[in-house]
Amino acid sequence: MRVLVSDPVSAQGVEILQKEYEVDVKIKLPIEELIKIIPQYDALVVRSETKVTKAVIEAAANLKVIGRAGVGVDNIDVEAATQKGIVVLNAPEGNTIAATEHTMAMMLALARNVPQAHASLKNGQWLRSKLMGVEMRGKTLGILGLGRIGSGVAKRALAMEMNVVAYDPFINAEQAAAMGIQLLELDEIFPLADFITLHLPFTSETKYLLNKERFAKMKPNVRIINCARGGVIHEGDLAEAVEQGIVAGAAIDVFEKEPVNPENPLLKLDQVIVTPHLGASTAEAQVGVAVDVAKGIIAALKGEPIATA
Ligand code: NAD
Ligand code: MLT
Repeated sequence: MRVLVSDPVSAQGVEILQKEYEVDVKIKLPIEELIKIIPQYDALVVRSETKVTKAVIEAAANLKVIGRAGVGVDNIDVEAATQKGIVVLNAPEGNTIAATEHTMAMMLALARNVPQAHASLKNGQWLRSKLMGVEMRGKTLGILGLGRIGSGVAKRALAMEMNVVAYDPFINAEQAAAMGIQLLELDEIFPLADFITLHLPFTSETKYLLNKERFAKMKPNVRIINCARGGVIHEGDLAEAVEQGIVAGAAIDVFEKEPVNPENPLLKLDQVIVTPHLGASTAEAQVGVAVDVAKGIIAALKGEPIATA
């Protein structure tokens, strides 16, 4: 059996696979090259950089399993894989804490202008009176998607004495109430929330969930945090809402197209703080997801029971 690892994953995961199979680590493969070599492999391990398209899957004559070292499988054509009998599995828990903590870091940095203060002071400017922030205590946080990361963010926000409301069509009000959170409809969140943070998957239903029409319904000076997926917010509409002063600021870790285009309008706005998809980038999380996905691949290739993505 041969395994191809086509995105950077932690060595601990690769070593687990190497004990069982022949493993090739080939990073940044052009799609044509991936299509050319994929017939040689029984398993493929990716993070988010490799796009496992229908064309890749059609060429994958021997592929039995695709393992995603992380949560979102939106870079994999799961339908095409399933039709071909290829199992798609992910590592849904290994990076939950990392992404939750990054969300809190982004929210606090946004509220207190930390990146702007850092950059200006390093540039010799003492902007003490210009960089006035806002407090989190007593503010309302709207969480869209109350899964692993969303509920972790809720727990931390409650500890900071925020009011937490959430929208998630797959969670019931009792489950939310047990966490101290009021579950609302999407449109009920907008007039209430001082901060809105997104923690849902990118699907055809969530594409551009936040758009011009929805920004118009939001409380003036709302702040938006997105550590989920770029496509859940319409980036052009967000930039416009910031320019119009509807949105006071945004903290964005993920972009519709990554690596982000330097011309992306969000990069031009001082009120928008950004990180290059760092949500899962902790030493602990990268070992966690790599080990989990390696174990999942071995179980799948041995025909043992596994949880699919
Ligand atoms: P999860 O599956 O535990 O939670 C997702 C939640 O979204 C679920 O509760 C689900 O019911 C809800 N949901 C699904 N469709 C919805 C909709 N239409 N409207 C509202 N809610 C909906 O996943 P998670 O581990 O919490 O991850 C959340 C997101 O964060 C995913 O998109 C994942 O890819 C992303 N993520 C990003 C990073 C990063 O590096 N920035 C790291 C980890 C995860
Ligand atoms: C995920 O979905 O797990 C995150 O985007 C993090 C990653 O891609 O590593």
